[in-house]
Amino acid sequence: MTILVTGGTGKTGRRIAARLQTLGHAVRVGSRTGAPPFDWADRATWGPALDGAHAAYIAYYPDLAFPGALEDLRAFTEQAVEAGVARLVLLSGRGEALAEAGEQVVRESGVAWTIVRCGWFMQNFSEGYLLEPVRDGVIALPAGDVAEPFVDVDDIADVSVAALTEDGHAGMLYELTGPRLLTFADVAAELSKATGRDITYVPVTAGEYAAGAAAHGVPPGEIELLTMLFTEILDGRNAYVTDGVRAALGRPARDFTGFARDNAAVWVAGG
Ligand SMILES: NC(=O)c1ccc[n+]([C@@H]2O[C@H](COP(=O)([O-])OP(=O)(O)OC[C@H]3O[C@@H](n4cnc5c(N)ncnc54)[C@H](OP(=O)(O)O)[C@@H]3O)[C@@H](O)[C@H]2O)c1
Repeated sequence: MTILVTGGTGKTGRRIAARLQTLGHAVRVGSRTGAPPFDWADRATWGPALDGAHAAYIAYYPDLAFPGALEDLRAFTEQAVEAGVARLVLLSGRGEALAEAGEQVVRESGVAWTIVRCGWFMQNFSEGYLLEPVRDGVIALPAGDVAEPFVDVDDIADVSVAALTEDGHAGMLYELTGPRLLTFADVAAELSKATGRDITYVPVTAGEYAAGAAAHGVPPGEIELLTMLFTEILDGRNAYVTDGVRAALGRPARDFTGFARDNAAVWVAGG
């Protein structure tokens, strides 16, 4: 079976592609550096990436809440079905109205679908835009004291691979979180314990966050998106855990303490 994994070099996609290859599936990495290259911003690249694919993992970039995302997702889904893709697995975000609109597009595709609706990734701290702040010892975010049930992307990958390759997941919406709520201060304490370093969380206003990100060279569009995500999504609406990992896989979700322990070297200079 040939499976197109969009975002196949990213946090979830890279892990999904590796698992699928281990299982013996032919994987096509759908990213700008894939062969053939796949670019959400260039629809001419979609056909070659979809050619001959039986299933597709959809991780839209930068976010389903981004302007134009819904139109892209609708066009991509239609093209995928026309190309013969019979199974779609969508990575979605919790508490986002536009992400839910994106889910609806996939639900109405006419082929087997699974929604993997996720909370904030633990790996934002080890592989994403929060890696450098953690290394520097200061996580300054406009997140107040809100709690979030951070999810391990290894769990997202396990659920997505099951949905792409096994029976029994069609028509399912799996809402994935970690097993407990943590504030960003809790996260800083967990990371301090795992690394033996002093890592602190400093709550800032959205304006202070945007100014700090701009000073570090983060592109304006990205700052806008991150600020929107922090201020709108981290308002407490997602401050509850779900049992999606157990529902999909029959095992508990991975906990933050294990994630911090396993990645401790990443947060130490040169790690
Ligand atoms: N991070 C979170 O906490 C979180 C939580 C819930 C849902 N999500 C969802 O996860 C998705 C993004 O995940 P992420 O932020 O963690 O990023 P990521 O998956 O770690 O990295 C982005 C991936 O997208 C590819 N990419 C970048 N620009 C692209 C383009 N123009 N066309 C095609 N591919 C492109 C990159 O590969 P190339 O550079 O090779 O193109 C890479 O594979 C979004 O849909 C977001 O809503 C994230």
